[in-house]
Amino acid sequence: MTPSQIALVRGSFAKLAPSHESVAARFYENLFDIDPSLRHLFACCDMRAQCAKLVVAIGTIVNALDDLEPILEGIRDLGRRHIRYGVQERHYVSCGKALLETLHECFGPAFEGKLCEAWAAAYAIVSGAMIEAARSPTPKAA
Ligand code: HEM
Repeated sequence: MTPSQIALVRGSFAKLAPSHESVAARFYENLFDIDPSLRHLFACCDMRAQCAKLVVAIGTIVNALDDLEPILEGIRDLGRRHIRYGVQERHYVSCGKALLETLHECFGPAFEGKLCEAWAAAYAIVSGAMIEAARSPTPKAA
């Protein structure tokens, strides 16, 4: 990602800070509209707690965007845990769509163009690392 893309993601994430958890709730509504079959993966889950966890994870990633290396193993572990949650690779496509759709709702037309591209780039990096780790579930020796 370019420094200006990182700044765009950080700035927009900060703007949403007062409503992070309601935005996360909206994200899950959009996700389940895109693929209703995903709802059952969260059947046993407290969605309020899940929204809070998602916000913390995104915040950690957004803070680290200019050097993901220190949190990369954490991202890979998250990807490996997602196998246990029943998540398949194709679900990451729906998740990415839901993320961009939710941010579009929040920012309106201002989201189109560079801001959308910046978030798509961040999502591609993080989901790519999660998917890659999930494909080879054994952590690589250091
Ligand atoms: C960049 C992409 C994603 C991020 C950052 C993310 C983040 C998280 C986090 C932080 C948790 C809390 C549990 C933990 O830390 O292990 C979690 C749980 C979970 N995620 Fe994701 N996730 C992503 C993609 C997905 C996708 C594509 C799906 C598929 C629908 C999904 C479904 C789930 C489920 C089912 C749980 C467990 C809920 C429960 O029963 O407690 N996630 N995710």
